[in-house]
Amino acid sequence: MTHQTSPEPTVPKAQLRCIECGLVCAKAEHDFRCRNCGDLLEIVYLGWSAGSKQPAGLDAIALKTLWRARRTSRLPVDESGVWRFREVLPPLADWNNVITLREGNTPLYELPACARIAGLRQLYAKHQGMNPTGSFKDTGMTVAASMARQEGFRWVTCASTGNTSASMAAYAARGGMRSLVLIPEGKISWGKLSQALDYGALTCELKTDFDGCMRVLNQVVRRMPVYLLNSVNPYRIEGQKTGAIELLEQCDWRPPDHVIVPGGNLGNSSALGKAFLELKELGFISALPKISIIQAEGANALVRTMREAGGKKLIPVQAETMASAIRIGNPASWKKAVRVLEATGGAVEQVSEVEIALAKAEIGADGIGCEPASAVTLAGLKKLVQQGFVKPDESVVLILTGHLLKDPDFTLKFHRCDLFAGPEYEKEASVLAAQQRAPIKLDASADTVVRTLKEADARPS
Ligand code: F0G
Repeated sequence: MTHQTSPEPTVPKAQLRCIECGLVCAKAEHDFRCRNCGDLLEIVYLGWSAGSKQPAGLDAIALKTLWRARRTSRLPVDESGVWRFREVLPPLADWNNVITLREGNTPLYELPACARIAGLRQLYAKHQGMNPTGSFKDTGMTVAASMARQEGFRWVTCASTGNTSASMAAYAARGGMRSLVLIPEGKISWGKLSQALDYGALTCELKTDFDGCMRVLNQVVRRMPVYLLNSVNPYRIEGQKTGAIELLEQCDWRPPDHVIVPGGNLGNSSALGKAFLELKELGFISALPKISIIQAEGANALVRTMREAGGKKLIPVQAETMASAIRIGNPASWKKAVRVLEATGGAVEQVSEVEIALAKAEIGADGIGCEPASAVTLAGLKKLVQQGFVKPDESVVLILTGHLLKDPDFTLKFHRCDLFAGPEYEKEASVLAAQQRAPIKLDASADTVVRTLKEADARPS
């Protein structure tokens, strides 16, 4: 099938700039670090600096209409919920050459039961787990993988707690590239590992944690011509901005008061923050939501960095949490995340393993579901409401980052009461029991099923 290209508004020129020393470079090093000071790079768009006139082709009202109209187009580049917003993304030589699985276009759901539990009038979830490979990673991967192919790479690579590798492997396969995955042995969920295998990745399980995989990979990319697709790659961040753009579109461009995001390597919070700040600069919105970042207690590098070092220097930790996606102790994008917290006035909070599991079951009971790392958002929100940081009548959106089916092991163990067994959980036993719904083994008889149904009907749901 051939596709016609519609006339396009001008797309701005993008530059790579170091977030620390400001050095601008035409081409990134293999590790995407500044060659001057070693810090991370970000993409800046010429003509978008504070106080500059609206750049040509970036009229907010016209673009809101164009972006909406593209939803009815059959062009792959318009069907993608990322490339639909290409005027605020880095330009490609040929838009028709993107690697897309029609990512983005994810739903914004209301969570009525969770709202009541948290003590809010209304609560929404932007479910990025509804992306093609089941996580938000796809929104960044379509951009960075397309860049890799444009630059002629045969191999792409990442270190991962599971979702990045699943996403990368899929986009590499679609784009005719090969992929090398480094994962910590025994520490990623089967769902995610099975995706990487099925999409054809060369998958290496290393006897270390995620941070160790990242260290090894940084050496590999300096020795071999493989393209790094972790979120230190600023093109990933650009694609992940579109989660925020789409959210605003779904809210008729009225920003919510709060957006709550899980924090691992801190690429996603940085990306969403960058989007909100840029859209305010460009006149799409007049106020910013407060972006709050929630971590697991056992992987709380950002929380400690903010509380013990005022956001000035990273305090790495030895990470340990059952929410394996965010089992990260040395987050690469911590400086970008600190800037987002400071620019939007958001909070950082940490939550326990029991709080994560309860929140996950509560999101599930609203008929939505998510993976454990995503559930930190609701667990953290409850604390932010109790602290008075989030007010009962404020509008709040949780960013659910991964699909429920990513980690069925966790879910089964929770409901079968295997996750928190032992006397140390005695205190929490009754709150846990209220959410646990273990399968019931019965004889194959209608009588026993009917009796069980009647008993269940007599209890509150
Ligand atoms: N939620 C899920 C489901 C994730 O997979 C991740 C990160 C995060 C939250 C945290 O996002 O790193 O941008 O702060 N997963 C990465 C991976 C690290 O390898 O899949 P972040």
